[in-house]
Amino acid sequence: MAQGAQEQEGWLLAGWQRSKYDEDAGPSLGVIVNIDRVVVVTGVSSGIGYGVAKSLIAHQCHIFGSVRKEADAKRLQAEFGDFFTPLLFDVTDEQAVNRAAAEVRSRMKGHYLMGLVNNAGIHVGLDALADLPLAKLRKQLDVNLIAQVSVTQAFLPLLGTDLTLKGKPGKILNMSSIYGSYTLPFCTAYSASKAGLNAMSEGLRRELKPFGIDVVIIAPGPIQTEIWGDAIRNAEPAEQKGSVFSEYVRKARQLSERETSKPGWFWEPSVIGEKIWKILNSSSTPWPHYVITPNWWLNWFGPTFFPRDLVDKEVCRRFRLSRPIKRDASIGSKKEE
Ligand SMILES: NC(=O)c1ccc[n+]([C@@H]2O[C@H](COP(=O)([O-])OP(=O)(O)OC[C@H]3O[C@@H](n4cnc5c(N)ncnc54)[C@H](OP(=O)(O)O)[C@@H]3O)[C@@H](O)[C@H]2O)c1
Repeated sequence: MAQGAQEQEGWLLAGWQRSKYDEDAGPSLGVIVNIDRVVVVTGVSSGIGYGVAKSLIAHQCHIFGSVRKEADAKRLQAEFGDFFTPLLFDVTDEQAVNRAAAEVRSRMKGHYLMGLVNNAGIHVGLDALADLPLAKLRKQLDVNLIAQVSVTQAFLPLLGTDLTLKGKPGKILNMSSIYGSYTLPFCTAYSASKAGLNAMSEGLRRELKPFGIDVVIIAPGPIQTEIWGDAIRNAEPAEQKGSVFSEYVRKARQLSERETSKPGWFWEPSVIGEKIWKILNSSSTPWPHYVITPNWWLNWFGPTFFPRDLVDKEVCRRFRLSRPIKRDASIGSKKEE
């Protein structure tokens, strides 16, 4: 193992041990009060994951929540108390994910989990697909798709595929997006990751039928979190690359900034938390796909109900992509020489 990887692993283990036994924060290894209400949620440091953890704890669930920074582990432990156990891992670190699953297993004393919420995710930034560095595309797919499979594989025995455990099989809730069902220009990598997650969820839902483990796609529309700012902040400065797409990307950023500053554009993360509680707590079979979005017409019905060519027209109009680009005849003729 490379030295950097060893240090990283050591840090993760050390961080895990310290966060469990930290005297200031208090031990987080108390008895789990409601063993039939234990949920693993990834990415609880902020945004939707934090909102989901908070809502579920209000419903007396015990949350094993994944964070990447020890400071976040301590902060959340102090806020949520005994109903929360931090798990320190990066979803792309397979070994750390497996260690966390083993730790949760040891705390579950032979019971199944109530659920797994695969929430952690990123947006690598607005960019034209033609210009997108492949390293960014790989990172987008690694975190939002491959890692979701890794986490799911690690926790599946605790959700119902280990036939020696007791209780009701758990549910898997995958945090997709409305953009997993249609794609806005310059957001293609993000949409590809969520469309992949939708496909993975559908296959898994069918494969897990015999085990009674429901797999659910949660597809939020705009929710007020840091990810929207990240999409803009992480954007490649295309104008510096002299790209033919730079002007379009600049306008897309402006559009995004304008639209997201409109009142009512976003919903709060607690809306997702409450919906997730209802799904987890219901005894009936959940729907395969829940869309939870403000501006239903603009964000869901319009883009998914109408024929794609009509939607193309409207999307291209909004993103200033309708008019053919002016070609310089002299450049064209030089190329032909
Ligand atoms: N906000 C929306 O409008 C919206 C809409 C549809 C879907 N979603 C989805 O909702 C999920 C949560 O996003 P959010 O909007 O709540 O954004 P957010 O506030 O940025 O939260 C992202 C969470 O994921 C964690 N994370 C990122 N990379 C990780 C990694 N490699 N390993 C472990 N954890 C990692 C972050 O942890 P750190 O603090 O350590 O970075 C953070 O806790 C994402 O899957 C996103 O695609 C969001």
